[in-house]
Amino acid sequence: DWTMRAFREEAIEKIRVQVGKGKVICGLSGGVDSAVAAVLIHEAIGDQLTCVFVDHGLLRLKEAETVVDLFRHHYNIPLVHVDASKQFLGELKGVSDPEVKRKTIGRLFIDVFEQEAKKIGGAEFLAQGTLYPDVIESVSFTGGPSVTIKSHHNVGGLPDRMNMKLVEPLRELFKDEVRVLGRELGLPEIFVGRHPFPGPGLAIRCPGDITKEKLDILRNADAVYIDQIRKAGLYDKIWQAFAVLLPVKTVGVMGDGRTYEYVVGLRAVTSTDGMTADFYPFDMTFLGATATRIINEVKGVNRVVYDVTSKPPGTIEWE
Ligand code: XMP
Repeated sequence: DWTMRAFREEAIEKIRVQVGKGKVICGLSGGVDSAVAAVLIHEAIGDQLTCVFVDHGLLRLKEAETVVDLFRHHYNIPLVHVDASKQFLGELKGVSDPEVKRKTIGRLFIDVFEQEAKKIGGAEFLAQGTLYPDVIESVSFTGGPSVTIKSHHNVGGLPDRMNMKLVEPLRELFKDEVRVLGRELGLPEIFVGRHPFPGPGLAIRCPGDITKEKLDILRNADAVYIDQIRKAGLYDKIWQAFAVLLPVKTVGVMGDGRTYEYVVGLRAVTSTDGMTADFYPFDMTFLGATATRIINEVKGVNRVVYDVTSKPPGTIEWE
């Protein structure tokens, strides 16, 4: 794609000019955006870049392995893998308000970054995979009143105490363009084609308070759902699909016994930029088979529902 080749060259030049001989640290989330930003910046300034992958304990199944493998082994990019799950889950204990969750996670991220920046001898710059829609949405809906819909933890600048400048080479791009750029940079298709994943991770897919037990149930249900979607050949037709663990238990029957377990909500939407979205019209046979698999394979779940809300009025994530 010639447009992206030109963008790549220009972006690399801009990064070199901005950064000079400075050190950059880049937070990887496991998503496409931060990965593409990191690879682009590495191409521009090589080992002046250190990537930091914070495992907040809110990742999908096998996510940490995938990211570490891609960066260390595929690209040979210096990567610090921080397991901060105890700290995050500890501070999130008993927190059920969505904005408090987001702000807590955002604050802890900054704390962890600050520590890591110090460890590598003081980075001057912080790189982020902020996209154009992130920039607009955290300000307001276009033309609407200036209301924060959700606090995106990767947007909004950093506290002054951090004393770091932002490098955001994807700020003008939409998601589909980031994918084209990722391919241009040689990222594996399985990674480039991944559905978006929010910085606050599974915390915002687990309405109510978060526990390790709930997160494990959610991770397993989500993995079965995504496996079903891939096997049906639908993954690339969907912008984003994921499971949500509802903070409610319902009664069911299995064998001769009564069960009293959690409800899993399934979400799948089509979209071009995440700003508006339509629910994906799965056929009922697919949904039925998926519900059966989740209930059979995931302990702690006895009911599955499908979300048929579009955006607006719903948002894609549940929090
Ligand atoms: P909503 O739920 O607002 O989400 O319709 C729109 C898109 O943004 C993703 N999202 C986030 N991404 N940090 C991120 O990096 C965040 O805090 C965040 N919140 C939502 C969401 O997954 C969807 O793709």
